Amino acid sequence: MTASITEQRAAVLAASSANSGSREVVLDVRNLKVYYSTPLGDVRAVDDVSFKVYQGEILGLVGESGCGKTTTAMAILRMVQPPGGIVGGEIMLDGIDLVPLGEAQLREVRWNTLALVPQGAMNSLNPVMRISAQIQEAIVTHEGKQDKRKLKERILNLFTLVGLPSRIYDMYPHELSGGMKQRVCIAMAIVLNPSLIIADEPTSALDVVVQRVVGQTLLDVKRRLGVSMILIGHDMGLQAQLVDRLAVMYAGHMVEVSPVATIFKEPLHPYTQLLIESIPSIKERKPLKLTEGLTHDLRNPPPGCIFQGRCPKVMDICKQVKPPLAEIKLDHQVACHLYD
Ligand SMILES: Nc1ncnc2c1ncn2[C@@H]1O[C@H](COP(=O)(O)OP(=O)(O)OP(=O)(O)O)[C@@H](O)[C@H]1O
Ligand SMILES: [Mg+2]
Repeated sequence: MTASITEQRAAVLAASSANSGSREVVLDVRNLKVYYSTPLGDVRAVDDVSFKVYQGEILGLVGESGCGKTTTAMAILRMVQPPGGIVGGEIMLDGIDLVPLGEAQLREVRWNTLALVPQGAMNSLNPVMRISAQIQEAIVTHEGKQDKRKLKERILNLFTLVGLPSRIYDMYPHELSGGMKQRVCIAMAIVLNPSLIIADEPTSALDVVVQRVVGQTLLDVKRRLGVSMILIGHDMGLQAQLVDRLAVMYAGHMVEVSPVATIFKEPLHPYTQLLIESIPSIKERKPLKLTEGLTHDLRNPPPGCIFQGRCPKVMDICKQVKPPLAEIKLDHQVACHLYD
């Protein structure tokens, strides 16, 4: 008899914990390609992207609008909708490749292991259902009927974990502030004890103070549950405060991955350098640094490096040969011919 996905994962986890000494890899995305098919050709939204997420870390995923962050997240959850689809690569979660899994096996993995706080999550709460009922529904759908008192206790514990007052239990979404709604969404993501949470821009559309509160909530959740996270965002300042490692995407490609302190101190890719130089500073008034030019059409990527059209340091080789993402210093990967 074939072992269920849960049994297979347990076996892989037991084997990897026996192999002590190295950091445990929770997610290993290898050469992932996700294309959207259009009448004018395939949009290569994610084109040969590889990265890892380690146990108990927050990996930040940044890059300009349209570079493929949400598509990467949706692919990990196997939730890319047509006309999009995964056309290549592997998504190894706790040692099991999610790409070939069928719907029944995927249902087992989603929520139990993986959880999503989607982009614009707080606006997707059901406006006519009390907060408690929405969280109860998530639990009962996945775990079956439960004792009402225990269910309430569990939800109130969740509220404490994400810094929400118990009085919101019987409230409706419109009675809550944006920050509170976003923390309800984080509570819904952690309710089933996942091993990886993907939060897609959980702080955008919130004011700066509330952004910090929601950010702190994510940090608390990580510390107390030991869960791994992918935190997608634009705000480099917030990323600097929250994440352990930072992954930078440009036009469907991963261009740099490194521990966050290293990348801020010594960004290697010219795109990352521009991204960091463009962070406004209160101490020093300087003209905002803009990246000249436009991203190329994702249907017709040029031969060579994808950043060549906007790169201030472009060389001849960049127009011919695509630079691979290579580890050029310990734990610091970059895809750029400057470091060949
Ligand atoms: N249904 C679709 N059909 C065609 N192209 C699509 C479709 N959905 C997304 N794309 C394209 O895929 C690329 C990646 O989009 P994605 O939403 O992943 O970007 P993102 O990095 O999350 O951007 P943002 O920061 O704005 O959320 C974009 O160029 C987008 O235009
Ligand atoms: Mg997005």
